[in-house]
Order: sequence, then structure tokens, then C-alpha cells
Amino acid sequence: MICLGIETSCDETSVALVTDEKKILSHLTYSQIDEHQVFGGVVPEIAARSHMEKIESLVKECISLSGIASQDISCIAGTAGPGLIGGVIVGTMVAKSMSFALDKPYIAVNHLEGHALTVRLCEDIEFPYLLLLASGGHTQILITHGVGNYEILGSTIDDAIGETFDKTAKLLKFDYPGGPIIEKLGSKGDDQRFKLPKPLYKKPGCDFSLSGLKTAVKELIEEKPVWENQDLYDLCASFGKTICDVICDRLSNALLVVKNKYPALKTLVVAGGVAANKPIRATLERLANDYDLRFVAPPLNLCTDNGAMIAWAGIERFKEGFIDSLDLPPRPRWPLEELRR
Ligand code: KG4
Ligand code: ZN
Repeated sequence: MICLGIETSCDETSVALVTDEKKILSHLTYSQIDEHQVFGGVVPEIAARSHMEKIESLVKECISLSGIASQDISCIAGTAGPGLIGGVIVGTMVAKSMSFALDKPYIAVNHLEGHALTVRLCEDIEFPYLLLLASGGHTQILITHGVGNYEILGSTIDDAIGETFDKTAKLLKFDYPGGPIIEKLGSKGDDQRFKLPKPLYKKPGCDFSLSGLKTAVKELIEEKPVWENQDLYDLCASFGKTICDVICDRLSNALLVVKNKYPALKTLVVAGGVAANKPIRATLERLANDYDLRFVAPPLNLCTDNGAMIAWAGIERFKEGFIDSLDLPPRPRWPLEELRR
């Protein structure tokens, strides 16, 4: 079985052909970062136009690189939300048109489910698993019970983790996206130097509150008139460490629930763009060890938005018999709880 996956929900136009035997036949991504960087974040109108411009040639090239014929494709999966609606419309229209032209099933993939299932494309992992889903727009702790079956334990009540990285980077006048830059500079710094707030820390529950963190960074910047390079490295390191501490604290609460309620659960998984962060991966690995769980993270190129995760989610859904109608509308907002099973 071969699925063509199309991802256009944010600032990557990405297309992949993936088999049910976990083989990525071809995978092409055009990143729009350079187009948005001058504006310090993603501009929806620019994103939509850029997806329009690139998608057709990417699909053609992806099929040609894979060595298969269009008719060998078993199903077409497109991100149908959540995301910036202009881009989602472009991707779903292309996926639906191809489905119609090739007479193959169309599968509407929820972008978050794409992230959540990616790990099963990389390794043989059974349900259920505990998942930290952390991207630019979402931060959730959830139990993945199966395809289309998610139990949310906690979410952010304000900013997402990736968003916190991006907003803090903007305050420090770094380029977009902020996560990789803060990680790189932080690797040269002292993570104990600046004490930053950790709202909800040591409180019960699995929700996150992160907006106070960027405000604290803003105040620090304003207080200190001159910032040498080493000061910035130390601030990035302290910021990264604070995020790691918060994640660890929130997940520890989740693990207490999980250990009692689901003793069969054996794996901790991280997904989403923030999962590319090495100190966060190391923190999660330690935490998993402490709780006798296996820790699995997708390779870095499958953490940030990509077409392979959409193709894989398409395969998982297709195998379960979930096929969508061509008149299904794209959705800017689409919580995992509302997924059809
Ligand atoms: O999943 P993703 O590619 O797009 C969304 O669905 O949002 O995630 C993008 C987010 C951005 O906020 C970016 O700053 C963050 O992931 N990110 C990172 C790293 N790489 C990407 N955050 C921290 N450390 C990184 N290395
Ligand atoms: Zn994403």
C-alpha cells in the first residue's frame, strides 16, 4: 500500500510517498522560512500563495523520484486542519483533485494526529503510549490509545511551547523560528544564571502556562542595558532549562495517573517541532528511565512539519477503513478530541 501525503498547514509545503511497510519512497519539502523571516513570524497570506506556487511541482517531482506510477498510489492524504486556512485549502484541494483524477480514496488528516502517529512510522510501537505533543501552535500531554483515539490529560492554557520559544526569540531580536536558535546559543551558556518563573510548577494537573516566561524575559532585557554575547547565551540556556523543568514537572503528574490507570502503557513519546530540541529530548529520556518506560522520539526531520507524517497517518487511517468524502471542509481549528473514529 502506498500513500501520497500532502502537508500545507503552516510554512512548509511538503509531499511524500510512504508505504505501509514504513518505507519513505520520496519526500520533498519546501520551507518558506526565508519568505517570512523579515516579518518575524508566519504571514498567512504569503504562506498560502507560496503553497500555491510550489505544490504542483513538488507533487510531480515526488512521484517521479519515487519511481512509481501515479496509478500505483493507493490513497491520497492531505492535512485538512488545524492550521492556517489558506494553506490548508491549497493542500486539501490538491489532495482531493488527485483523489478524483486517479480514482483513489481521499483521507483528511488532522495535522496533530500526523505528529502523534509519526513515531510508528519510525519504529514498531504499540498503543497505548504517553505523548508530549509540542509544536508552534499546540502543547498537549495525551494518551494515544489508537488511531483517532486520544485522551487529553493536559494542554497549555496560554502559549504553546514552540510559540514561547518563538516569542522569546523575537524579544531577543533573533530570527524566526526561535526554537533552534535559542537551543544553539543556549548550548554555550550557564543554565543556572537567570531564575525564570515556572507557573503551575509543583501544582497538581498536567496543564501548562507559559506566557509569563516571555514576559519575565522581556523584563530582564529591559532591566539590563548592555547584553554581551555570554549574557545572551546564559539567558537562552536558563530559558531552555526552565522549559525542561516545566515539562518534567507536568509529565511527572501525567505519569502518576498513567501508571495507575494504564499499567500496560510502556512508552513515552515526544512529537511536534519542539521535539527537535536536544536538551528536551534528554530530559524526557531521563524521565522515562525513572518511570521504567521506553522513550522514543522521531528523527529530527520528522519532528517539524513534513509530508511523510501525513502520508503515514493516511496509511494508518486507511487501514482502519477511514475514508473521507471529497466535500469534507478544511478546518482551521480541529482539536484531537473531535477526531472521527
Ligand atoms: O510542528 P512544527 O514544525 O509546526 C507547527 O505545527 O507548529 O513546529 C514548529 C515549532 C516552532 O515554534 C519552532 O520554534 C519549534 O517548533 N522548534 C523548536 C526547535 N525546532 C523547532 N523549538 C525548540 N527547539 C528546537 N530545536
Ligand atoms: Zn506541526
